[in-house]
Amino acid sequence: RDEPLVLGIETSCDETGVGIVRGHTLLADAIASSVDQHARFGGVVPEVASRAHLEAMGPTVERALADAGVAFGDVDAFAVTAGPGLPGALMVGVAAAKAYALSLGKPLYGVNHLAAHVCVDQLEHGPLPKPCVAMLVSGGHSSLLLVPDVAGDVRPLGSTVDDAAGEAFDKVARVLDLGFPGGPVIDRMAREGDPAAIAFPRGKYNDGTYDFSFSGLKTAVARWVEAKERAGEPVPVADVAASFQEAVVDVLTQKALKVCKDNGVDHLLIGGGVAANSRLRALAAERCAAAGVHLRVPRPKLCTDNGAMVAALGSELVASGVGPSDLELPADSSLPI
Ligand code: KG4
Ligand code: ZN
Repeated sequence: RDEPLVLGIETSCDETGVGIVRGHTLLADAIASSVDQHARFGGVVPEVASRAHLEAMGPTVERALADAGVAFGDVDAFAVTAGPGLPGALMVGVAAAKAYALSLGKPLYGVNHLAAHVCVDQLEHGPLPKPCVAMLVSGGHSSLLLVPDVAGDVRPLGSTVDDAAGEAFDKVARVLDLGFPGGPVIDRMAREGDPAAIAFPRGKYNDGTYDFSFSGLKTAVARWVEAKERAGEPVPVADVAASFQEAVVDVLTQKALKVCKDNGVDHLLIGGGVAANSRLRALAAERCAAAGVHLRVPRPKLCTDNGAMVAALGSELVASGVGPSDLELPADSSLPI
């Protein structure tokens, strides 16, 4: 009861998220998504996302307050994603958060989107072990992080050198005419297919780095499908989906466990939209068990972009005594971790 009530706002991509937490307790996680408005373009259109955030912001805040059963005036602190993300989309959230904080005379915390993806797991599984390794895989990022302290010390060890993991799912789905976003539908199709049917390349598999590369895989899938079509043969969509997905999750889990091993860390957290992937969850569980590593994956709704993760990190910053941001807080599209 004594813990502060924190409202978090997320607008870095296409989800307008407003979460409310008290300490580690999640009270509300309201989301408005503009994903349907982007579907016909096959990807997120920044200008469309910004306008949608502006329209959704007020109603989503109201819905979160109602869900949490609290009044706006009860909020003790505000948190907002300051970056990284789409510049115009971030600006809508940051501007709104400044106005809310100013109107109540309450502190504002600008937070890093990647650290928030890590921190959200505390709402579901309790305090994060220190240190832990985090792998964030979504449409915009694919990062491996060493996390001694999510509120103050998050170290990037590697990331993708080209496409993000989710982006690869989305692009391969387009090649297979499966629609956008591609991840969920490839996940579903793959269950009917053979993951060993086609040997697709695994980029940077044993190269000694903590980086990923998915564009070669995407191109290999496109070439393979084109060749089938040229030959007038039917494309075995389920086998392609399963074989592609297996290549992605094989590399992801191999690298994540390498980070754990090299750093002597026995807790791995996986977050971001791709963490919803059922095969990634299963293979990570299998390989973590074999390596003696404890695996934490938030439930799917907390893996994709949401406001609760921002509130969770805001709450952590309040508790750790880190000072709030000032009202000149910028939106920084390439904010480093
Ligand atoms: O975290 P998120 O909601 O937004 C950002 O990109 O930051 O992640 C969305 C991405 C999309 O690329 C989507 O295709 C992918 O996550 N995704 C999945 C699954 N569900 C969502 N990828 C693989 N399997 C899934 N089940
Ligand atoms: Zn994200």
